[in-house]
Amino acid sequence: MKSAVQGNPAVLSCREEDKDAFRKAVGDAVSAILDSFSDDSAFSGTDPHTLREKINSLPLLPEKGDGWERTMESVRKDILPHMLRTWSPSYMPHLHSPALIESIAAELIIAAFNSSMDSWDQGPAATELEVKVIKDLGALFGYENGDGVFTSGGSQSNISAALCARDRWIEKNLGRDVRKEGLPDDFRKLRIYTSEISHFSFDKGAHMMGLGYDAVVKLPVDRFCRIDMKKAERIIEKDKENGLYPFLFAVTIGTTDFGSIDNIAEARRIADRFGMFLHADAAYGSGALLSSYAERLGDLSLADSITVDFHKMFLLPISASALLVKDSTLLDTFMLHADYLNREEDEADGYINLVGKSMQTTRRFDALKVYISFRMRGRDGYRKIMDTSIGNAAYFYSLIAKDSTFTAPIAPELSSVVFAVRRDDECNKKIRRELLSEGIVIGQTVFSGRTMLKFTLLNPALTHEHIDRLTERIKELAERV
Ligand SMILES: Cc1ncc(COP(=O)(O)O)c(C=O)c1O
Repeated sequence: MKSAVQGNPAVLSCREEDKDAFRKAVGDAVSAILDSFSDDSAFSGTDPHTLREKINSLPLLPEKGDGWERTMESVRKDILPHMLRTWSPSYMPHLHSPALIESIAAELIIAAFNSSMDSWDQGPAATELEVKVIKDLGALFGYENGDGVFTSGGSQSNISAALCARDRWIEKNLGRDVRKEGLPDDFRKLRIYTSEISHFSFDKGAHMMGLGYDAVVKLPVDRFCRIDMKKAERIIEKDKENGLYPFLFAVTIGTTDFGSIDNIAEARRIADRFGMFLHADAAYGSGALLSSYAERLGDLSLADSITVDFHKMFLLPISASALLVKDSTLLDTFMLHADYLNREEDEADGYINLVGKSMQTTRRFDALKVYISFRMRGRDGYRKIMDTSIGNAAYFYSLIAKDSTFTAPIAPELSSVVFAVRRDDECNKKIRRELLSEGIVIGQTVFSGRTMLKFTLLNPALTHEHIDRLTERIKELAERV
């Protein structure tokens, strides 16, 4: 492929030579990807110092461009061999999934058209499809007349929900428009309540909203790692009596480490008693709605807003998340009109400009990935995927629960299992490092002050045999590290 100088291929167009250049670039990229699928390991095992040195030696912006062939040669040789291979059965540390094959093709379509979701004239079909996907997702999660927006991930979905809840609560209770006037003088009284093991995006959000980490009250969990609702109610009651402003109760439907699920019905009752918003962070657990175990989640439609991450259990490429809201006016927090972008007169004539629902301006057309995978696989196809993940976690737990080498505090409700070999913290840390050097990547976390290991079993290609082999390997290491 020639370099992008005048007259030579630079951007895709209807000219045959541009199409040929595109075919070649995509074809070469596909070959490079497939060639790097040489074995089942998750990682080359290279240590960080060696890898850093190698990557640091690469030129970024040579005076004269290296051209496509040489650049790709470097990508093949210097970068791809050390990429983390999410599809590997030896990769299970995080809520970080392999991508469904069709969704990788969807990414190509998204990139080729490079639509932006801020205004209708930057993505007519993209805008209409996002609106349609959001409407159907709302119905799936039990919202009759709700709304929503795609976001960059669960963090943005959670923070957006907290922001909308804060603005609406202050408007309703203190008669103030935060967007225009900023926070009230007594803003230090505002409180968010969430589990002590909920995602840190609520702390980040409190900081970004000008409330500070201290505004996030961490509620204690029971022995199943779910919010202890009795204690939660007493804490909120006391805060309210002391003149504080509890405005948001954020439950987690699938905590990051354990996949534990807070009781949403109880949370709804408590939120109503104190006039709070209820947000369900279902970034992880939302996928289980399509499994045979959906009843484990509780009734998500009880929440005022729901975070759904498609780049976790749904196996779509990063990034893909949505914030769904029950009251369609809640997203008005983000509404602003700009003369160059989302003119009111156009909107009056039916042109939808989604910039008014998001904290982002330029935004990806991630709804296409959801449309393609949902339509192609249907409920049945997704049920098989979710059931395999959840079933694999139950299988692994059943193996270690009867083995005296291990301890595992909680039976999994979703697809993650937190466990430890019984020896000491050091032994568990060494096992994880040793596995990493062998190209096997598992998780590590802390539970009740002890170092624990973690399997996050999102990959539906993982079999019981893989799990058996890895369990045996961990037992061997437990004997000798
Ligand atoms: C429960 C939960 N909520 C939110 C997030 C944040 O999601 P993201 O990484 O997509 O921002 C995570 C990430 O793992 C999570 O586990």
